[in-house]
Amino acid sequence: MHLFKKILIVPVLVLICCCSCTDDRPYTIKDLDENMIDLKAYQENMGDELKAGRLQDAVWLLDGMDSVLHEVSRKFDEHRKLKEPFSYYYKDRLKKPIRLIRTGINDKDTTVAMKGYRLLVKNCNSCHIDLDINKTVKY
Ligand code: HEC
Repeated sequence: MHLFKKILIVPVLVLICCCSCTDDRPYTIKDLDENMIDLKAYQENMGDELKAGRLQDAVWLLDGMDSVLHEVSRKFDEHRKLKEPFSYYYKDRLKKPIRLIRTGINDKDTTVAMKGYRLLVKNCNSCHIDLDINKTVKY
């Protein structure tokens, strides 16, 4: 009986351990470059909607992009290619253009939204230039 219990305990422990390990990782961990590719997809599609004057269709793309940026800010306090935590760059360069795009969308003002979008692209690129990243974000 004792032996039986011992034999049983091992697979139970293994099972518990495996379950809790997979539970700890509900999302796949993406590196910075993969997050950047997601950002690019949101930014380009949002740009297409804004240029076409479809402000309402740009809302979910703006929200999607902003949530990736928050995720990146939370994850990358440091990274071999960053000189400061990502949240520093977010506040310094992306917060203002994002706010401008949002204001434009809320006020149904394409001119303001486009002004924000142009600033966004410019600031994505300024960060790449400062960090020697050979990647141009297209308008
Ligand atoms: C912190 C400053 C910073 C800002 C702001 C920034 N990037 Fe990046 N970006 C990087 C770094 C660093 C890399 C290189 C990542 C790597 O190689 O691990 C990169 C790489 C990229 C790449 C290439 C990814 C690949 O592997 O092909 C794209 C695309 C990109 N960024 C898009 C954007 C877009 C779009 C924005 C604006 C919404 C933006 N980035 C804003 C720092 C920044």
